[in-house]
Order: sequence, then structure tokens, then C-alpha cells
Amino acid sequence: MRILLLASAFNSLTQRVHAELRDLGHPVGVELALGDDEDLTAAVRRHVPDLVIAPMLTTAVPEEVWSAYPCLIVHPGPPGDRGPSSLDRAVQAGLDRWGVTVLQAVAEMDAGPVWASADFAIPPDVGKSDLYRGELSDAALRAVLLAVERFASGTCTPLMPATHTWQPYLSQEERRIDWHRDPTETVLRKLRAADSQPGVLDTFLGEEWYLHGGHPEDQLRGTPGEILATHHGAICRATTDGAVWIPELRPRRKPGSPPTFKLPATVAYQQRGAVTCAAPPRGREQPPTTRTRQPSCGTYSDITYEETGTVGFIRFRFPGGAMSTDQCRRLLETYRHALTRPVDVLVLGGSRDFFSNGIHLNVIEAAADPAAESLANIEAIDDLVAEILTTTDRLVVAALPGNAAAGGAMLALAADEVWCRRGAVLNPHYRLMGLYGSEFWTYTLPRRVGAAVAARLTEDALPLTAPAAEALGLVDRVVDCAPSEFAAEITRMADRLARSPGLPARLGAKKAARERDEAVRPLSAYRADELARMRAVFDDPDAPYHALRSAFVRKRRPNETPRHLRTECPNGD
Ligand code: COA
Repeated sequence: MRILLLASAFNSLTQRVHAELRDLGHPVGVELALGDDEDLTAAVRRHVPDLVIAPMLTTAVPEEVWSAYPCLIVHPGPPGDRGPSSLDRAVQAGLDRWGVTVLQAVAEMDAGPVWASADFAIPPDVGKSDLYRGELSDAALRAVLLAVERFASGTCTPLMPATHTWQPYLSQEERRIDWHRDPTETVLRKLRAADSQPGVLDTFLGEEWYLHGGHPEDQLRGTPGEILATHHGAICRATTDGAVWIPELRPRRKPGSPPTFKLPATVAYQQRGAVTCAAPPRGREQPPTTRTRQPSCGTYSDITYEETGTVGFIRFRFPGGAMSTDQCRRLLETYRHALTRPVDVLVLGGSRDFFSNGIHLNVIEAAADPAAESLANIEAIDDLVAEILTTTDRLVVAALPGNAAAGGAMLALAADEVWCRRGAVLNPHYRLMGLYGSEFWTYTLPRRVGAAVAARLTEDALPLTAPAAEALGLVDRVVDCAPSEFAAEITRMADRLARSPGLPARLGAKKAARERDEAVRPLSAYRADELARMRAVFDDPDAPYHALRSAFVRKRRPNETPRHLRTECPNGD
């Protein structure tokens, strides 16, 4: 069946639907809805689709499209639910279950008959975007694939839900935190419902900011609203009955000025000259090791190290999967600490959501010298990858609970084994950011998939499902479980691996293979070649990377659908 995806952006869910439908053998094209209904209608006609699916569309489907082609809309709410902030409202209300519906487009938004739906659990402590890329994405795929099957059968008729409930847009007024009244639980719900976008608008340190992300603090206490500490780029603010950590801030855009973008909280307010006189307390930063913790630093950490038996778990959670120079260096420090421990297996990766999306484009964009910061960031991630590649006395596992892209996908390939949650989407390419790429990918990618497939993956620049990545050799084990089960499943798998009788022989073979490879071409040569090409891009102010990065961080829409998406993509070669 010829399927056209209509989307406001080629976002994570659209990528997953694209990749899963291609895995099933459907030719799939994409058309972005960029504001001009006539252009969109003409583009849909050019595709001549059998079926149009809109996995993430924030505008209405033009009548000329839905009246001429069957259009299925993915709505992030259960049957009968309507409105633009469904998921935000479910999280803010503290619900423990929610749904996703595939309905037919009609004149009124979200009011069409239902082709399929699925429900999912909302874990108590996750942000909206994390939920969207995790539980909701899994449920959406179940519903989309069922809807496609029903549509293809030609024998199913979609059903109207018994009732409809319209829930309006969740305004900043409703999201606002009352620091003098709201207990921690309410503050966290509001922060999580707005995470990662649009954030919660708030005023402090003499400025208006959007607050992005929220984690509980177990020990620190203070006057409600007060900043109590900073740690790993996040700020800790007191509530009426506790405190919360806020990892990222975005200044409110001033009329006539360019769009603002999120940054680690401490970086964001250091950028604003206006607030330096009111800087929050200093001296509470914790050194980057994570095993011992000073009570004054509270209980938040974006990198942790734990051991179970002879397995060491290096867990990290970076908003948006972006890894700044500082984060890469701290992760390397933790990795080196793990190497001093009596463990046989090291597992690298978080419990939920993104594994990594490579260097931190926002921090780079905000730097006084973005070219120099780009290089510093790539050197820092390369140092980490080099340390992993030269670890010959332990087995290293990259455990991917969610999506990975660009340098973040290549980071995983440095490990001996890549374990990937079934629902994760992989983008092992750099081209769309105008970069050649580093992270020793010229060594690790062909080593896994061969030169021809490596060239195809980097050139096609298309997302892959975990099973497709496994079939190509990029992933060793697909872990088919819910997002909230991933950490426990990985712990079980790592324990089995650490106990396997073949482990010493494997380590011996690994050391020998590394020595052989080093003799053929040293790692330093791969790194030098990659960095020479990256430096040429960073140092050229006219290189597309700089404009692409600026547009990416400011969320500027492209003028047209990128050509590599528009082309109908059958799966396979
Ligand atoms: N640096 C900074 N922020 C990043 C990032 C990066 N490398 N990669 C992702 N993010 C942020 C996004 O801006 C977005 O922020 P938001 O939640 O405030 O909107 C968030 O992470 C989620 O990303 P989004 O693009 O919405 O997720 P997606 O699943 O739809 O798309 C990618 C995933 C990876 C395809 C896309 O984010 C991307 O192209 N990232 C850049 C990868 C890259 O080129 N890295 C640099 C080279 S190593």
C-alpha cells in the first residue's frame, strides 16, 4: 500500500511510524505541513497515496485532502477525547492511564470515526515528552498498525465514539506554579506536563523564564521559590514542603528579538548579564564523581554509577539526549572510575528515553565561539569513545532505552554489545546537520555493517527501527519490553552475561582483535582524519552546519519537505 505521512515535523513518532511501515514493506513518503494548504494539497496529489496517515499534525488537514484520500490522524488521547493539549492535561492531572486513538480526518478537529485505539500506563514520575517517546509511542504503533490492517482489509468500518469531550489548550495561566502554595507534588506535575515543551513560565532572578524538566529533591529545604543549590547544570528551588531540581531554562522571548532556546539552567543564567548580580548560591557544586555525595548538594544527579555483583552500571540522563563538553567529561570521569572497580561487565545508558543525540547543539550555539565549542564538544565525546574502545579487560554494553542519533548512535557502537529497546528509533547519520561526523564512526560503523551498508545508512539519513538495526548488525539484542521494565530487564541480562562461562575467553579475543585492528590502522588515525574534516566545517563560517544548527535550536521550520523524505521509500535495497 502506498502510504503518505503528513506531519508538522518529522518528529520521533513520525520517524517511528515511517520506519515501522517500511519494515512491513509499504512504500512510504512524507510531506510536511508547513502552512500553505494549496501546496500541501498539490503535494498529496503528486504522491497519489492509497492512505494518508498523520502521526503528529498540529494543524487541520485541508478539506481537499481528507475528502479525496482516506486520512488517519493519530490523536494522543483515548476515543472521544479532543483538543490540542491532551497529553499535557493527562500528565498535569496526575492520571495513571491514558490512550491514543487513530481516527479519520473530518472537517472538525479530532471528531472523526475511530479506526483503532490503544491505552497505556502513565508512570508516576515521567515528563510528557519522555512518555510520548515511550509508552505513548508503543501504544500509537499498535493502534496505527491495527488501523492500517483494518483499512487494508476493506471490510472494516470506523466507529464514532459514544461521546466527545473537548479539552482546550493548556495555557501558561493553568501551568503557572504558585511557589508559596503548591506542594512539591503539584510543582512536579506542572513541570512534567510542560516538559520538554513549552516549559512553565516563571519569574525569578529578575527575569521571565520557561522552566524545563523537574526532579524531586529529598534533602534540601528553604524558603519557597528560593534557589538552594546548583548541580550538574541544574538549579534546585524550594517548594512549600521540599524542593525540586530544574535542569534547563529558556528566557522568555522579547518582542522583536529572535527566538530563545533552552540551555542547562546554570549556563542560561550565566548568559544573561542582567542576573549576574543576583546569582544563586555558589560553592554547592559537587565534584563529578558520583559515588560519594555531599549532603549540601542534594539528591539530583544526571550521571550515576551503581554495581550489582560484577556488573557496573553507568547511568545518565541528559535532556534531549544532548551531551555538552561538560557532560561528556563528567561521563568519562565516571567511566574511568568504573574501570577502577572489580567488575567484569560495564553497562552504559539510562533507564528511560534517549540514549544520546551527540554533541549539545544548544550549548554550542550559545557559546561565545561556537566553532571552538563544537570542537571542544566533539573532542570530549571522542575521548569518551576512545576510552570505551580501548577497554580490553571488561565487556562493555550500550543499553539503549530509547532513541539515539548522530554521534549518540555512534557512541553506542563503541561498546562490545548494543542492547536496544524494541521501540527505539536509530538515526546513525550526521548529514542532516551538515557534519561529516566523528566518534570513531569510520572505524565502528563499517566494522559492524560493512562499508556498503555504512555508506547507505549515512547517505540515506533515514530512521531505523531496532529490529531493522538488528538485521543490519547495528544492534545485537532487541529488548521487547515496556519503557518502565527496561532497566530491570537490562540488569537481568547483564547479570547473565557477567556469569556466562565464556566471558574470560571473550575478553581474550576482544583484546587480540583490538591489537590486530590497531596494527592495521591505529585509532588515532581514524580520529585525526575525522577531526580534520570536522574542523574544516567548524572553521568555515559559510558551512551549512552553522545555519542548520541555528535553525535546529530555534526550531525554525524548513521551507519545504526535505527531499530524502519526500521520495517514497520502500524498505531494503
Ligand atoms: N543538541 C541539542 N538538543 C538536541 C539535540 C542535540 N544534539 N538532539 C536533540 N535535541 C533536543 C531537541 O531540540 C528537542 O528539544 P525539545 O524537546 O525542546 O523540542 C529534544 O531534544 C528532542 O528532540 P526532537 O528533535 O524533538 O526529537 P525527535 O525524536 O523528534 O528527533 C533527532 C530526534 C535526533 C533526529 C533530532 O533531534 C536531531 O536531528 N538531533 C540532532 C542530532 C545531531 O545532529 N547531533 C549533532 C551531531 S553529533
